[in-house]
Amino acid sequence: MQDRDRDIESVLLDEERIRAGVAELAARISADYQGRDLLLVGVLKGAVVLLADLCRALTVPHEVDFIATSSYGSATETSGVVRLLKDLDREIAGRHVILVEDIVDTGLTLDYLLETLRPRRPASLEVCVLLCKPQELRVDVDVKYKGFDIPSVFVVGYGLDFAERYRNLSFVGTLRREVYEQADAR
Ligand code: PRP
Repeated sequence: MQDRDRDIESVLLDEERIRAGVAELAARISADYQGRDLLLVGVLKGAVVLLADLCRALTVPHEVDFIATSSYGSATETSGVVRLLKDLDREIAGRHVILVEDIVDTGLTLDYLLETLRPRRPASLEVCVLLCKPQELRVDVDVKYKGFDIPSVFVVGYGLDFAERYRNLSFVGTLRREVYEQADAR
């Protein structure tokens, strides 16, 4: 048994459900963006896995860019202070942009990104996320393309990390409480 398997408490979304969810998101986006100049913006680092699967399932032409944010805080909770670590490579004025995120927790990261990108005058700006924790939302964020609502539990896998690990898991699972409580206490 590997260390990572010992740390997982349960599987919340298995590979098959995620694949079906991503295929549905891709089908909706493909239908909505036919004939439009689509740019997918992945929010590093958590969104890389979703973005990689999503863009390969799209049937419409598109480009990809990345932006990186970080929220200071404990191992499992945000501080509410979001900062930009890496900006986009290109201008987005006049383009149809979809921000791609792995998870909306408090919503503060997406709120910050939408406020940052809106003044750059994209033709449209929408959000696609795999997971949303409705009970944790602190701000109103309009998520047009959402995979799954999940309860307020700390999850890892499919891009989501704990201390930079577990992003490579093909499923989304909960971490055993001892693992993150030990880290929070440090
Ligand atoms: C995570 C996640 C979202 C954000 C969601 O990113 O990928 O970007 O937190 O939380 P919020 O809705 O409370 O703002 P994190 O800052 O952990 O960086 P990472 O993507 O590099 O793991």
